[in-house]
Amino acid sequence: MEAVSAEKLNIYYNGERAVEDVTFTLKEGETLLLLGPNGAGKTTLLRVIAGIHQNYDGKLSIFGKEPDKVRDILSYVPQSHTLNERVPLKSIEVVSMGGLYRKGFVHTKIPREIKKDAKEALEFVGLADVKDKAFNELSGGQKQRVLLARALISHPRLLLLDEPLSALDPSARAEVTGILGKIKREKGISMIITTHDINPLAEVGDKIMLLNRKLVAYGSPEEVLKDDTIARVYGPQSKALRVGKRIYCIIGDAHFFKGGKR
Ligand SMILES: Nc1ncnc2c1ncn2[C@@H]1O[C@H](COP(=O)(O)OP(=O)(O)OP(=O)(O)O)[C@@H](O)[C@H]1O
Ligand SMILES: [Mg+2]
Repeated sequence: MEAVSAEKLNIYYNGERAVEDVTFTLKEGETLLLLGPNGAGKTTLLRVIAGIHQNYDGKLSIFGKEPDKVRDILSYVPQSHTLNERVPLKSIEVVSMGGLYRKGFVHTKIPREIKKDAKEALEFVGLADVKDKAFNELSGGQKQRVLLARALISHPRLLLLDEPLSALDPSARAEVTGILGKIKREKGISMIITTHDINPLAEVGDKIMLLNRKLVAYGSPEEVLKDDTIARVYGPQSKALRVGKRIYCIIGDAHFFKGGKR
């Protein structure tokens, strides 16, 4: 079964084309890493797949259906989450919100079964112990894990994550990447993850898309992560380095030592 299938997708804002000619398929259970510079159209593509932005042409199906017909089987975690940090919500309440939306509750006491699901979701992301702590007092990595728990509580088949690692330090990145690996292994949920830095996510990526308004490359990491391909997006200094089974990308402004001089 294909989780996502797109053919000649063009996406528009106010009549102007923001994303052009995107064709790809993602199988159920696979993780796609979506890479591209600022303004490349990554968020735009995710919002179309999430059924939020509908101004597009071409063919797009999610598990064989139109995007706006499958909202109940996908979860979308936006780039900068819109939770008001001044509202003193506990972690368990933030996670429960993912279940309340689905059931059509707006403002009510959290039903016991949703609280139970929320507790399980917090355990899954390794945060059972911060259940009653205020969300705005958590570390960046913990916040992102709470948001993952919130996305998981509705048992999605497709998870759309917009830059889940941005603004996190390396150890928090490793925390979040660990959970993403666990989601993939234990739940088999298909994921599309946008990122500026592919290296910390290398282990979860089955497919890589390079987007720069147009689709530059799509395929397995071995097919896409080559010097000449990434150079088409990030310039001639970009390099793909193979270390054992891993491929690391050095993109853009990396500084090399040349002949002993900086
Ligand atoms: N709501 C909007 N209305 C009009 N144009 C928009 C809107 N949102 C995005 N755009 C334009 O669409 C293009 C793609 O933007 P998008 O946010 O998808 O890029 P991105 O790859 O997610 O960038 P970033 O890495 O900065 O998050 C940009 O030129 C942007 O200005
Ligand atoms: Mg974006």
